[in-house]
Amino acid sequence: MATIDSTSQPSSALLPPAKPGELFTLLDFLRYAVSRFVAAKLVFAHGTTDPVSEAAFLIGEALHLAPDQFDTFAHARVSTAEAEKLIDLIERRITTRKPAAYLVNKIYMRGVPFYVDERVIVPRSFIGELLSSHFGDPQLGDSAALIDNPDAVENVLDLCTGSGCLAILAALHFPNAHVDAVDLSADALQVAARNVADHDLSDRIALHQGDLFAPLRGARYDLIISNPPYVDAAGMASLPPECRAEPSMAFDGGADGIDLVRRILEAAPTYLEADGGLLCEVGRCRDAIEEAFPELPLLWLDTEDSEGEVFWIAAADL
Ligand SMILES: C[S@@+](CC[C@H](N)C(=O)[O-])C[C@H]1O[C@@H](n2cnc3c(N)ncnc32)[C@H](O)[C@@H]1O
Repeated sequence: MATIDSTSQPSSALLPPAKPGELFTLLDFLRYAVSRFVAAKLVFAHGTTDPVSEAAFLIGEALHLAPDQFDTFAHARVSTAEAEKLIDLIERRITTRKPAAYLVNKIYMRGVPFYVDERVIVPRSFIGELLSSHFGDPQLGDSAALIDNPDAVENVLDLCTGSGCLAILAALHFPNAHVDAVDLSADALQVAARNVADHDLSDRIALHQGDLFAPLRGARYDLIISNPPYVDAAGMASLPPECRAEPSMAFDGGADGIDLVRRILEAAPTYLEADGGLLCEVGRCRDAIEEAFPELPLLWLDTEDSEGEVFWIAAADL
């Protein structure tokens, strides 16, 4: 979950919006949206990281095109009704500062679609990538694998599940696993339930409402994954408007950001199988965690877009 500190204001040079009939092709709308987004000084941190990807995502979703179909239709014209819809969406992205995913109720993680609305944070956890890269991806051989055989994983716990995105990716990656997924927010769990049903995984994913491990009685897991709230007090005070559109309880990690991570690390040994492990995302809190738990041999994992924001620790080392 990348967060960006920014409270920048839209440029006063923002021109009036386009009218239907002034723009013709998908590419026209892409160029127009990018110009407007840049002039409005939007922040891009919710599944896309730049204005071009954000505009392509918004336009593609509005026209019911899969993400990889934009290029095919880049020079195709849109109808008047489609133009009205696109101009309205582009304007709402600017005036509401809501992440594009909320405006179209959709986000993709690892190519997998999820329903989202304001009841959940927009999924962007680095754990999605790590599940593929470090948990028995046969293409990588065994060298990077933290769990060699995805087929042998029987029980997974996703703490702080939000939309259920990581629980669902885990269920897809570990085909024989049962997944327990916990969140304190009843609202978030309603969204998670919708996603679990959409992916036809209701028989393998159980959703629980409660405070971290509280709803789980005596269970043991081969793998615990968690993307908990981890923004410290200073970060909370400078969240950009796009993040302020998301539930604050998805971010708030207390004064130093590690209130929940601390509790997860302390309780994890009780819930892990002897040969299991914990994979936890912590944003910019690496220093605070290493200071609080100097004795733990945390393995920091990098992804395409992150460095030292997720740690792995084997149960045996906890
Ligand atoms: C950063 S979001 C992660 C959501 C999802 N796993 C993802 O990666 O998109 C953190 C989630 O933790 C939940 N949460 C906050 N405090 C919690 C607690 N004490 N116990 C369980 N869940 C909690 C929030 O409601 C939010 O859905």
